[in-house]
Amino acid sequence: MTVLASIREAPGLESYLDELEERLQETVASHPGIAAAVGADALAAGGKRLRPMLVFLASRPDAPPPLAAGVAVELIHMATLVHDDLIDGAQFRRGRAAAWAAYGPAAARAAGDYLFARAFAELSTAGEPRAVAMLAEATLCLARGEALQRRQTHDPDTTVESYLERCALKTAKLFEAACLLGSRGRDVALGRFGLTLGIAFQITDDILDCTGDGLETGKIAGVDLREGTPTLPLLLAASEDDVVRRALAGGPPDGALVRVAGTTALARSRAIALDYACRARACLDGQFHRDELEALADLVVHRHS
Ligand code: IPE
Ligand code: IPE
Ligand code: MG
Ligand code: MG
Repeated sequence: MTVLASIREAPGLESYLDELEERLQETVASHPGIAAAVGADALAAGGKRLRPMLVFLASRPDAPPPLAAGVAVELIHMATLVHDDLIDGAQFRRGRAAAWAAYGPAAARAAGDYLFARAFAELSTAGEPRAVAMLAEATLCLARGEALQRRQTHDPDTTVESYLERCALKTAKLFEAACLLGSRGRDVALGRFGLTLGIAFQITDDILDCTGDGLETGKIAGVDLREGTPTLPLLLAASEDDVVRRALAGGPPDGALVRVAGTTALARSRAIALDYACRARACLDGQFHRDELEALADLVVHRHS
């Protein structure tokens, strides 16, 4: 059995994810129009649903699982993907044309905004103002992370520290929010777990952008180098290889990705991602779904998609 299949055996998780899909479809379809159509397409393309899984695994088994929170977190994630592909000029997402490539930039922008709005509408149905504030904070961090990335573009002297800050803002804050929403704000250790895991997740994504198989990731590799996004593997490779450094700074990208593989950057990045996953696991202590959360931390750094 795969690790994911064993995590999904957690009692109640499978039906939670089924209900989640239904509610995602309903909420995306609630206001018919082009934004809803683009959103429905993005939803139908699938995705790992990792963040709602975290919401579930962070919740107590003796109370109904927080469905609205899972739906809201996945909608925020989808909204950022739709906007992110537009910003990154990424043609493919989840194995099909990215929203902007299929429907044009204006429709993609509107669809992202629509998904953000639906996320907060969903979460407000739970009647927990603190939860809404938590998700608003994470969403603001996402935008700050994208803005920081813009400032770091084409800068091969970006420090590892500011790269990690960007990972925390654009990715890990939503993982943290998923864990906190799941535990209804009660378990700060789970929040730390989510934040640390999110960084491991983004480093792994950045490695996959150098080495990943498009058939597995559903994305085209090499977007980060082409766009001059200083990710950890690219920064480490640039410090060893001038061709990579010049490509990252905006010079010709030809052949640079192959040269990344000739440096120690990928192995060093992998070691750092593994270290973050290990630190994430160390945050856990007596949680109800501790085994599944630990398995998820492993999965995040060993995934191919
Ligand atoms: C991709 O997230 C965006 C990043 C934060 C790197 P996922 O890899 O979780 O995307 P889906 O939902 O499975 O498509
Ligand atoms: C994560 O960064 C983007 C968001 C958090 C929206 P990437 O730009 O690396 O994500 P992918 O590779 O496009 O999924
Ligand atoms: Mg991107
Ligand atoms: Mg990426």
